[in-house]
Amino acid sequence: MILVTGSTGNVGRNVVRELVARGERVRALTRNPAGSGLPAEVDVVEGDFTKPDTLYAALDGVRRAFVFPLFGAIDGFLAHARRSGVERLVLLSSSAVTFRVPGWIGAAHQRNEAEVRASGIDATFVRPTLFMANDLAWAGQIAATGVVRGPYAKAPMAPVDERDVAAVASVALTSDRTLDDVSFTGPQSLNQVERVRIIADVLGVPVGFEEISRAEAHTHLARHMPPPAADFLLDQLKDAVDGRGEAISTAESLVGRAAHTYASWVEHRIADFRR
Ligand SMILES: NC(=O)c1ccc[n+]([C@@H]2O[C@H](COP(=O)([O-])OP(=O)(O)OC[C@H]3O[C@@H](n4cnc5c(N)ncnc54)[C@H](OP(=O)(O)O)[C@@H]3O)[C@@H](O)[C@H]2O)c1
Repeated sequence: MILVTGSTGNVGRNVVRELVARGERVRALTRNPAGSGLPAEVDVVEGDFTKPDTLYAALDGVRRAFVFPLFGAIDGFLAHARRSGVERLVLLSSSAVTFRVPGWIGAAHQRNEAEVRASGIDATFVRPTLFMANDLAWAGQIAATGVVRGPYAKAPMAPVDERDVAAVASVALTSDRTLDDVSFTGPQSLNQVERVRIIADVLGVPVGFEEISRAEAHTHLARHMPPPAADFLLDQLKDAVDGRGEAISTAESLVGRAAHTYASWVEHRIADFRR
């Protein structure tokens, strides 16, 4: 039995789908089973990382688990996993842990990785770069004004499709041996203006891009995340301005297929852009 935590999220939902397609027995953890929308063949159970007592039942009979990296709240899960005899963990981490300056987000993932190491359970750390799914934050602006507003318009990045992150995690969960930690990006280096152009092409509507200041972007981001996390995201863009946003294709060789392009991702999430 493989337990998937974060099973209703961008990545976890696709981990469930990949494992079911591979014929694995899957249990999925969520705080709200009734609203999970997960496939019928999955054993959907209720549990909350911040209430470790709710995790006993979810871990019963589990040998491998996908760990959602809820900051500051995985210790209870890990303690129960060790006691339950879980043999392998695959932790969703971030490429930021490898940065010279990991920033607020990278440091939080480094603490998660250290806690998983300390659990003594064999583990693989899956370290993707920025998710394409972050660009869903543009959906409201596109629907309301037809213009995306953001800082550092020309900063190239190689964002990754959540289906590819999930595919890497699924290989790590099902392989015969514990895989090494893996860092990867998406397949194309694209700046924000180029990504908005692709969204416009796929949606079939005109969409513009208007560059705004870092200060304005920070004010907006800090409404949705701790201010140091907003700083980290803006620093990543700033640092990318003079770079090439190099694509790292490690995931393709592991998964055995090409990574999804940005246009393919927009098609996949088109309902979310139109909602
Ligand atoms: N965005 C990026 O660019 C990026 C890049 C690298 C790494 N990451 C990391 O990836 C993670 C986000 O992944 P995602 O986009 O797949 O997540 P997501 O779509 O935001 O989904 C969050 C998931 O976490 C679960 N969850 C939230 N609170 C919980 C709790 N107290 N107990 C148990 N489960 C809880 C939710 O389940 P229910 O609501 O169903 O309970 C949901 O399945 C972040 O930690 C981030 O640091 C992100």
